[in-house]
Amino acid sequence: MPLRPDLIDILRDEAAPIVILTGAGISKESGLHTFRDPDGIWAKYDISDVATPDAFVNNPDLVHHFYNDRRAALLDSNIQPNAAHHALARLETEWPGDVLLVTQNIDDLHGRAGSKNLIHMHGELLKIRCNHCDLLTAWADDLAKETACPACGKAGGLRPHVVWFGEMPLEMDRIYAALGDCGLFMSIGTSGNVYPAAGFVQVAHEEAGAETVELNLEPSTGATLFDHSTYGPATELVPAFVDALLKG
Ligand code: APR
Repeated sequence: MPLRPDLIDILRDEAAPIVILTGAGISKESGLHTFRDPDGIWAKYDISDVATPDAFVNNPDLVHHFYNDRRAALLDSNIQPNAAHHALARLETEWPGDVLLVTQNIDDLHGRAGSKNLIHMHGELLKIRCNHCDLLTAWADDLAKETACPACGKAGGLRPHVVWFGEMPLEMDRIYAALGDCGLFMSIGTSGNVYPAAGFVQVAHEEAGAETVELNLEPSTGATLFDHSTYGPATELVPAFVDALLKG
């Protein structure tokens, strides 16, 4: 059941804080693969081979190859923010209250669309960091285990600035503080399989009494946890939902 217009009016009048969680589905129509759809990334690779700290120790060449391919795909000029990314940027600008966008995506499409109050909880593909020193920097090239750190000069320590399975997502204190204070929580384009993100809906519901909305191509694993839901492609659902929120 979609969020009713009278509830939207109340949220707008109260300038209710909004927290939005996005996943790979929002970038699908920009041309990037999701993870768990039939043509998704985890149909071709095992998580344990490319997305864990152990994988980086045991087979750094494969891990670098995996992220080099994804980095090159993201930098393809055909990959651009879509109408859903743009609509969320517009919501941040025009909504009377705070809007925090938390993405699980490591692409940069929300930022390119103009979202500013943005947390990349799983890191960013276009950044690297060094295990030997405190370097954290933008990076658009391929990376190899022989690549020397531009700061400390050592090889073997550079890694993508992404959160692997078994590692702690980023900025969780800020995210939980916002969830505990929001009036509306929206989850867009995520299958609800990966925690802690999959548990945000319960935090928003139980701690803040927020209205909770799922916008996704199909019901997610946690679909029954949401008060309201609409199913379809993000480029149609998200602009329509943002229009409904903003219309006075
Ligand atoms: N519009 C909206 N939703 C879509 C679209 C679309 N055009 N296409 C696919 N989806 C939905 C799918 O139905 C699915 O529910 O997006 C969801 C994508 O789910 P996943 O592939 O599991 O991606 P995500 O939930 O972001 O994965 C979470 O898992 O492997 C990790 O770290 C990775 O951040 C990622 C995390």
